[in-house]
Amino acid sequence: MTRLVGASKLTWLVAGVIASTVAASAAVIATANLQPEIGGWLGLAFWVVIALGSAAAPVRMPGGTLVNTTFAPLLAAAALGGPLAALVAAALGVTEWREVRSLLRRADSIPWYGTAYNHAAVAGPLLAGAAVYLLIAGTGFEPTAMHLVAITAAGVVLFAMNTTLTALAIAFREGRPFRAIFMSNVRQFGISMAGLAPLAWLMAAMWVVAGPIGILPFALPLYTTRAGYQKVVEIRDMFTQTVKSLAGAVDAKDPFTAGHSLRVQIIARDLGKEMGCSEEDLEALEWGGLLHDIGKIGVPDAVLLKQGALTRDERILMNAHPVKGEEILRPVEKLRPELPIIRHHHEWYNGSGYPDGLIADQIPFLARIMHVADSFEAMTAARPYRMTPLAEEEALSELRKFSGIQFDPDVVVAFERLLQRRPGWARSSAAPPPVRSIPLLGKHEAGAQPA
Ligand SMILES: [Fe+2]
Repeated sequence: MTRLVGASKLTWLVAGVIASTVAASAAVIATANLQPEIGGWLGLAFWVVIALGSAAAPVRMPGGTLVNTTFAPLLAAAALGGPLAALVAAALGVTEWREVRSLLRRADSIPWYGTAYNHAAVAGPLLAGAAVYLLIAGTGFEPTAMHLVAITAAGVVLFAMNTTLTALAIAFREGRPFRAIFMSNVRQFGISMAGLAPLAWLMAAMWVVAGPIGILPFALPLYTTRAGYQKVVEIRDMFTQTVKSLAGAVDAKDPFTAGHSLRVQIIARDLGKEMGCSEEDLEALEWGGLLHDIGKIGVPDAVLLKQGALTRDERILMNAHPVKGEEILRPVEKLRPELPIIRHHHEWYNGSGYPDGLIADQIPFLARIMHVADSFEAMTAARPYRMTPLAEEEALSELRKFSGIQFDPDVVVAFERLLQRRPGWARSSAAPPPVRSIPLLGKHEAGAQPA
């Protein structure tokens, strides 16, 4: 039922945005002319090509957001040529190769309404930006401070509206809170996007002074900006791979837990999503899921792999793994948010867990989520002490039985809800995490199924 409501909201959003953009475009085409500064249709074509060049090579950021530097040439075209130029530049200039490929091969990787929405989510906001520009600076572009203010204001409108529309689409599609998605994108891209507005002003100024030749020097900064994004992604990938191999080292020590960390990562993330966690918290759950048992590296194999009950001393060694894990990862600045999850993933809701015996709300919220994800995965996988894994229903009834004792009741309820909606979800979730975030400027992959 929830999914149906979500789907119909998404349909209304897509239809509404496309329809209102078409209506606004018709009004602009009927009433506006190109302003002379842009140099007629040929000049506009040049700006479309520049925009296409920046859109052709988007960088996929962690989380699936696609970023490109099209913002600058689009704003410059709007400032130089007015609303009609803005409309044409946005409608054509944000086309990507993958969209053309989809259309040519009739492949359904991006449905037509997805492409239409993506273009409308840039064209509409850019038109609004062009209107704000006109209000502040009037018609015509001059390389003055007033026009810099106007172009920056137009950029803010473009960025805010585009981010809102893409975040809304993701929120409706995936049933996640809008605010978390929106804020995460503003934090991630707001500053770099703000830098592109003055660049747009400079490009427009150079165009007025020197024509197309004046724009060529900008190819380099646009390229280096893109290269900068690319580097961020590469470094992040490297970090991810390193962390994964670290987590794999624990799994490799114990054949019974092979793949455990990866599955816990996915279950914890989905559970966090169900509980309305912010993007930052979801990320902490993902890393925390991968690394929660990293402290087991320090547990002797004789204890870790022992079949049968552990002695008191062995139990002490085994139960030290959350604290050891925290100690191992403490020097890694980037993993600070994950430390409480790792330290407290064996705390019990009634206070009888370890290492600190925290009770209820004293236990960090994300650690309570991790505890349920970890326990469910462990119950439904073969272990030395229980060769036959529990069935999903049996494991769920264990969670219910210990709700309020071992597990946070709210987390158990959310887990149950998720399992009801997606039977088999927790066992079939060994796939790599799907693309989960927002394209900016604004490529949201409409039509893809919720994760
Ligand atoms: Fe553990």
